[in-house]
Amino acid sequence: MSADYTLHGAVAVITLDNPPVNGMGLATRTAAVDGLLRAQRDDAVTAIVITGANGVFSGGADIREFNSPKALAEPNLHTLIATAEGAVKPVIAAIHGVCMGGGLELSLGCHYSVAVVDAQVALPEVKLGLLPGAGGTQRLPRVLGLEAALDMIVTGKPVAAAKLPALFDELYPAGTDVVAAAVAFAGKIAAVRPLPKVRDRQATHADPAAFLQGARAAVAQAAGPYPAPLACVATVAASVEMPFEQGLVFERERFMYLIGTPESQALRHAFFAEREAGKVADVPPNTPKRPLARAAVIGAGTMGSGIATTLANAGIPVTLLETSQAALDRGLAGIRRYHENAVAKGRLKADQLAGRVGLVTGTLRFEDVAQADIVIEAVFEEMAAKEAVFRALDRVMKPGAILATNTSTLDVNRIAAFTTRPQDVVGLHFFSPAPVMKLLEIVRGAATGKDVLATVLALAKKLKKTGVVAGVCDGFIGNRMIEQYVRQAGFLLDEGCLPQQVDRAIEAFGFAMGPFRMSDLAGNDIGQAIRRRRAVERPDFTYSGTADRLCALGRFGQKTGAGWYDYAPGERTALPNAQVDAMIVAHAESLGLPRRAVPDEEIVERLVYALVNEGARILQEGIAQRASDIDMVYLTGYGFPLFRGGPMFYADSVGLPSVLAAIERFAAGTHGEAWTPAPLLVRLAAEGKTFNGR
Ligand code: NAI
Repeated sequence: MSADYTLHGAVAVITLDNPPVNGMGLATRTAAVDGLLRAQRDDAVTAIVITGANGVFSGGADIREFNSPKALAEPNLHTLIATAEGAVKPVIAAIHGVCMGGGLELSLGCHYSVAVVDAQVALPEVKLGLLPGAGGTQRLPRVLGLEAALDMIVTGKPVAAAKLPALFDELYPAGTDVVAAAVAFAGKIAAVRPLPKVRDRQATHADPAAFLQGARAAVAQAAGPYPAPLACVATVAASVEMPFEQGLVFERERFMYLIGTPESQALRHAFFAEREAGKVADVPPNTPKRPLARAAVIGAGTMGSGIATTLANAGIPVTLLETSQAALDRGLAGIRRYHENAVAKGRLKADQLAGRVGLVTGTLRFEDVAQADIVIEAVFEEMAAKEAVFRALDRVMKPGAILATNTSTLDVNRIAAFTTRPQDVVGLHFFSPAPVMKLLEIVRGAATGKDVLATVLALAKKLKKTGVVAGVCDGFIGNRMIEQYVRQAGFLLDEGCLPQQVDRAIEAFGFAMGPFRMSDLAGNDIGQAIRRRRAVERPDFTYSGTADRLCALGRFGQKTGAGWYDYAPGERTALPNAQVDAMIVAHAESLGLPRRAVPDEEIVERLVYALVNEGARILQEGIAQRASDIDMVYLTGYGFPLFRGGPMFYADSVGLPSVLAAIERFAAGTHGEAWTPAPLLVRLAAEGKTFNGR
């Protein structure tokens, strides 16, 4: 059943019913239109109430129908709204829970609407790079006034019904049975004619022209590369500048335009990618989960403290274990400072501080963490250190406890083999700073139990992270790809670039931070340690020697006040350094490489396609389950521009044959040894397919 029809005396009640949020899919729209027609045919009916089952009115479009012809099939949303608006008997929207997108547009087409005060109301289309395309931009300003309507449409933010009295004919206290109240309201207005229609009203503002001019300037500034917010302003402006019907046509035209923009396509891709990331083919949603009431973290350094803070922020009590009292005290003090700062910034209430800080306690003894349901190790990135910890955990932890490692590169299967319970071992790769970064790479070992995987996927949600599952390999998804990207950045220095040119070019492409600023932030010693390991494991692996020369100068990055750039004490602004630039030129000379002017376009292609080519290998090897998982890793963990949808989506949108042609060109040039096209890329390009659609 997708919309239920019942009679409450002389009032027909149509209940949208399409769990979880009564998305207005084809079946629901059809049943609602049928209900409206039936009620008008029935002489005993004097008024019609439209409401939603499951405690919500409607969340809007049915996302399962996105990208399917069903979305536009008749009766489409316009037809449903026109049927409600054109009804000869009063139609009342009875709103509770959630009323968003197309749901709100439907209610605006009804003659009346009533709501419970705590219902959440929004037009969130802009978040997918779109605008409300079923009359929302024309009707909302006519009800709320230009300013309030524009704010809701441009931000997409939900607002409580209580804050929007102009939108509702009656507002009820929380907990009211909205259907009973709407039926009572219907009794009062059943005979009133003519039926009020929003389209007959005027959008109001004291000085619309001046307001719209200011809004255009402010929104243009804030919108960045996205076209949707300005299109929202233009369509809302039409609500005062054009007759209603003409405004609707304009809204439709702008909506169709936005659907085709790469920015909206990228946002919609990311929206679905996020939902997909939580799914693992052989771990169905009904897989039993283990209880997670208490946690422990081993190591109170940068990551351990951050992870403990993240757990506490989700209300999970944590025991933090260190090797020395001094290190433990440092970690605990850092956690306290973090929370005090949160209070200062208004993110945490002062009276919650003690409780939040109190969720993290410290210890020096493994016995004290034995009863935790999950323990996350974050000690030094050395196999010997991991071995000592996992052997100790295996000895003390209660049966069934999940043993997780935050390693960024090491072999999770080897770590699991230090225990007698490899099924309980999993990688949980947090990113720095852990409380802030959205990405959580979940590394599935060969023996990791399905219930363990299901449990940590649920934990990711609880921590408000995007959990992406990766298989075991050096660097998993994110760091394995970034190594190729950083490697290209180094080669570009040898061929003629300076760090600031490389960073500027990729930041203009949209990255949050270029490779050299990123390395300075993370610490250049991290890359050095990886290169040293590579030199032993894969002696044929080439890379620019500039990074080693930089480390030889003691320039480890922001923490030493000097790296690829200089940093004033306490500042994060990257200032070019002449000594570094001279070192780069001298290094190129020592290689006998002529320096050339490298176009910014080549910089972007080499960095991004290095990610794409390695991503293709990761996909082919099954380290990532799907291309969109790789995109999620880069969008949420590495500052890849959201409006480009992630590296694999971006490659798809450029066209894989073009990407392959560029890679083949690079393979024939200087440092061509770094460019063997991934077989999957070659195959998909030949077959005319894409990574995301394969
Ligand atoms: P860190 O050097 O800041 O902290 C490591 C802490 O572990 C130190 O406080 C040390 O005293 C403690 N420790 C060492 N052995 C111990 C033992 N047996 N028992 C208890 N505590 C012990 O290191 P960081 O940066 O926090 O890294 C930790 C882990 O997280 C590493 O595996 C690293 O690869 C990984 N990681 C680091 C990221 C970063 O950005 N720093 C990002 C993601 C993962």
